[in-house]
Amino acid sequence: MSELEQIKKPESRESKVTVLAIDDEAGFLEFVGEAISDENVDFLSTTDPEEALTIVQRWHPPVILLDLNMPKAAGMEVLGRILGIDPNADVVMLTADYSTESAVRAIQQGACDYLVKPITVERLRERVRLLLQEARRREHRTRLEEDVYHSLQFESMVGQSPIMQEVFVAIRRIAPHFRTVLIGGATGTGKELVARALHRLSPVASKPLVVCNCAAITETLLESELFGSVRGAFTGASQDRIGLIEAAHGGVLFLDEIGEMSQAMQAKLLRVFQNQEVRQVGATASRKVDVRVIASTHRDLRKMVSQGQFREDLYYRLSMIEIKLPPLAERKEDLRLLEQGILRRCATELKKPVAALTGRAQTVLSRHSWPGNIRELENVLGRACMMTATNTIDVRDLPDSVKTVVAGGSNGDDVLAPLADVQKRHIERVLQSVDGNKARAAEILQISRSSLYRILQESSDPSGNALVGS
Ligand SMILES: Nc1ncnc2c1ncn2[C@@H]1O[C@H](COP(=O)(O)OP(=O)(O)OP(=O)(O)O)[C@@H](O)[C@H]1O
Ligand SMILES: [Mg+2]
Repeated sequence: MSELEQIKKPESRESKVTVLAIDDEAGFLEFVGEAISDENVDFLSTTDPEEALTIVQRWHPPVILLDLNMPKAAGMEVLGRILGIDPNADVVMLTADYSTESAVRAIQQGACDYLVKPITVERLRERVRLLLQEARRREHRTRLEEDVYHSLQFESMVGQSPIMQEVFVAIRRIAPHFRTVLIGGATGTGKELVARALHRLSPVASKPLVVCNCAAITETLLESELFGSVRGAFTGASQDRIGLIEAAHGGVLFLDEIGEMSQAMQAKLLRVFQNQEVRQVGATASRKVDVRVIASTHRDLRKMVSQGQFREDLYYRLSMIEIKLPPLAERKEDLRLLEQGILRRCATELKKPVAALTGRAQTVLSRHSWPGNIRELENVLGRACMMTATNTIDVRDLPDSVKTVVAGGSNGDDVLAPLADVQKRHIERVLQSVDGNKARAAEILQISRSSLYRILQESSDPSGNALVGS
């Protein structure tokens, strides 16, 4: 056999598509089966609407022909139940007595077409051929998206926007060499993921990555956490403890939310950078350390420097190399990939086969402004995965905060509403998108925390319940 003969021709056979027909007349089902019989079609049929629903549940036929008038159940009701199980199915309604009203109602309920019996073989074939084509296109698109997803994954991040591709290139270039890196970006944009990627791709990947969340610890505690303490340094210090900086020796120290650090602590940290040594709280001598530092912040450190809130010398040391993460609103082209990744994760965690979003749900997500960025998207989809009774997320599974379009800061309902109502609704949305974290919400709203508390207090209902949370 020649070499050429050994090379197999790629299979060009189209994938099989399942078509389900539901009608109380067995004769009509036979007619449909013959009309559309084809080696690339798996034809299923039943006269029993309940059995049809079991088939939909089990096999998810992408194309369904449904009789409108059946003695056992109203076609309209069956349509609703089919779409409840599989909102992506293309359902064609069939009826012997046409009325514009019922046709419009069927389309409004989510049917894709409405055909009148008697129907010719040619017409039925033509309609089904187009639907099969569309079903194959959908399946092909899903497969392509899967491939694209893998090719656009970087470490545990995804992104196809030019701006994120630049971030990935920067991470790859910086990781082998950095001593200090600053990561900027609003809440939920992926700062911690970038820090982890930098560590994983660094020459010290086998050494520890030690995380210190500067926003979560009080100033006095932060010093002993970072520097460690010797026995008797303060009440309760019953033994020597090494700090996080020393724990990161040889590896990477990740200072999360460094903008929250007090000026006194900033000065102490700067000394570590300058002398490469730490002194435990209460100790008399210093010890040498070798650490690479990644700092992150959602604040504008440059502005904080100009306002005297952040040390200039520390800022320059940290910001020699800076990676800025753009808000999700500036990289909406990443939404599809992010949605896919999140759905996969949720499906595994919840042990539920949630595979996709309907086109309608995708449109709603793409219109939202995402103040809480990817974390908010994760919350929204995580909740939707839990809520949905099907394997597909539709608009009804999404929270109101996402469904309400805030085009240019206002939706239709807001136009003639009192200012206080609009303010209340906006605050509700922001609070929902940051999981009720009032400190974050106040920052996004650019008001002080006390103003937010005051507004929440004023918007409490007469029973004294606050707007959102407590
Ligand atoms: N490019 C990305 N691809 C996939 N998932 C991402 C991406 N960016 C962020 N995420 C996910 O979004 C969530 C928020 O990311 P991360 O915690 O890194 O953000 P952050 O900027 O540190 O947020 P915060 O300010 O709230 O601490 C995480 O669950 C993370 O896995
Ligand atoms: Mg973070």
